[in-house]
Amino acid sequence: MKIDILTLFPAMFDGFLSESIIGRAIKDSKVEINIHNIRDYSTDPHKKVDDYGYGGGAGMVLMPQPIFDAVDDLKTPDSYVILLTPQGKKYTSVEAKKLTSKKHIIIICGHYEGFDERIRTLADQEYSIGDYVLTGGELASMVIVDSTVRLIDGVIQKESYENDSFENNLLDYPTYTHPYEYRGMKVPDVLLSGHHENINKWRYSEQVKRTKIRRPDLLEKDDL
Ligand code: 6GU
Repeated sequence: MKIDILTLFPAMFDGFLSESIIGRAIKDSKVEINIHNIRDYSTDPHKKVDDYGYGGGAGMVLMPQPIFDAVDDLKTPDSYVILLTPQGKKYTSVEAKKLTSKKHIIIICGHYEGFDERIRTLADQEYSIGDYVLTGGELASMVIVDSTVRLIDGVIQKESYENDSFENNLLDYPTYTHPYEYRGMKVPDVLLSGHHENINKWRYSEQVKRTKIRRPDLLEKDDL
């Protein structure tokens, strides 16, 4: 998979691309991620990327020219173009799974007070990552790339995401490591029993219990 990200703030991605699982996935060539500065595509002598909005109102508006030229430059018949805005479709684990099948993703990070409405025509999909407003799409793009790349074959162990929260509409079960007892809190005995069937039953019942209390809305979708 190849991902091209269009942003006005490329430095925001430095740590994200070099650390942890995403850093390793890039090193192992499981994914190629390129960051492009929208300003580099501006044809304005002063590299201007935004201007006052028609009709007045607060704030500057991202102009169409740099974004259209960037997408024209990067787009191929395999490309899937995503625009990040608080008005987009709500991004969930179902969307992450869909994205793993794409060969090439172009992500446009909106910024400032807004962007020219005509930029919307470039997008195959608009996403929002939740009901709150971010100062720009950069953090949202990292959320989307992180949650998608971890599902690519060979990036993490399959078992790690087969039991993810939201798989089967259930939250994850509790996990423990050493020591057996810490500040008076003990590991549930079933986990030390070596009885795999009992362990699986206990984990499932913990998932259901936890989901009922914390996220009853998920259980309404569960067909079990
Ligand atoms: Cl994708 N962008 C911005 N600016 N704010 C958001 C968002 C995206 N998703 C939730 N809030």
